[in-house]
Amino acid sequence: MESKKIIVTGGAGYIGSHTVVELFNHGFEPIIVDNFSNSEKSVLVGLREITGRNIKLFEGDCSDPNFINDIFKVERDVAGVIHFAAYKSVGESIKFPIKYYSNNLGSLCALLEAMEQHQVRYLVFSSSCTVYGAAKKLPVTENTPVVTPFSPYGNTKKISEEIISQEAQNRKQLKAISLRYFNPIGAHPSAVIGELPIGVPSNLVPYITQTVAGARNQLTVFGDDYNTPDGSCIRDYLHVVDLAKAHVKALDYLFDQQEDPYDVFNLGTGHGNSVFQIINEFEKVVGKKVNYVVGDRRTGDVPVMYANADKAHQFLDWRTELSLEDALADSWRWQEKISL
Ligand code: UD1
Repeated sequence: MESKKIIVTGGAGYIGSHTVVELFNHGFEPIIVDNFSNSEKSVLVGLREITGRNIKLFEGDCSDPNFINDIFKVERDVAGVIHFAAYKSVGESIKFPIKYYSNNLGSLCALLEAMEQHQVRYLVFSSSCTVYGAAKKLPVTENTPVVTPFSPYGNTKKISEEIISQEAQNRKQLKAISLRYFNPIGAHPSAVIGELPIGVPSNLVPYITQTVAGARNQLTVFGDDYNTPDGSCIRDYLHVVDLAKAHVKALDYLFDQQEDPYDVFNLGTGHGNSVFQIINEFEKVVGKKVNYVVGDRRTGDVPVMYANADKAHQFLDWRTELSLEDALADSWRWQEKISL
């Protein structure tokens, strides 16, 4: 692979920005495509601070075919694409499903068409364990049946995977991987980039850090009457830097080894932690109390979800290296920085 140019749609977002850093660290030339609908330009300053370079940016909407096509025209020898750009709020997607279908599927289709036109062969897609729904058997492997997810957001991930898979089977030029993320948390250890939730966070760890920082009164634990050891839901929380590294491994695998046109990989630690365990661990690591109450269950939450990530280990040579403590400490360091 001569060219090192990798288009990163949504590269200014939470997982995208950490992936840009890892691509840079591994000798790639990341090129960000982002419309800043759920990110801030300050991320670019952070990326410059970490990498010592200005990362190239195309600002615009990936679902605009002309815009996306023009990028490939200008850049010419793009080696591959990592596609993060998508709306990701479960709650919002239930209120505005068309917004989600139109943006998340429209941008993928525009991207695939532009890739075909410009003969760009390699795609890594940002998917989610939400495609497994409430799996009957745990941990979930890539052979666990995919279901129609409860939310339109989740359904856009399932449909996107199907579109990519069919496109890769039909068009022999395309080789693609979907990465099914479990629960990414944490921030870059430098505390220069991290998650920037707009408005009230819906994910657990940003809600905890904002509560401890005083921006929220209290965390609500969504249910303590599940059939789990302490009654709260269990998830597989992995450090965002580990997750970012998996994208580089996936690209390398696509370039060098992958024979099948399409494959999927779970990305998680292989271990579950309950909401109460996360709260306790956070208090231990950070040395501050989390003010919380127990509330009702949140609609759509599955009681237990954690990964079997052996396939990623076997084929991508990837496994998580950072601990839950690292992730929570980094989340807090980042929160302290943005609270200033
Ligand atoms: C959520 C999405 C999932 C998406 C992922 C992206 C839902 C139902 N699922 O996963 O589709 O791919 O984010 O990051 O929204 N919790 C609380 N109090 C809070 C927030 C969360 O108790 O204020 C609990 C939840 O009930 C859950 C756990 O914390 O048990 C993790 O929640 P969250 O961070 O929102 O992730 P998921 O729901 O697993």
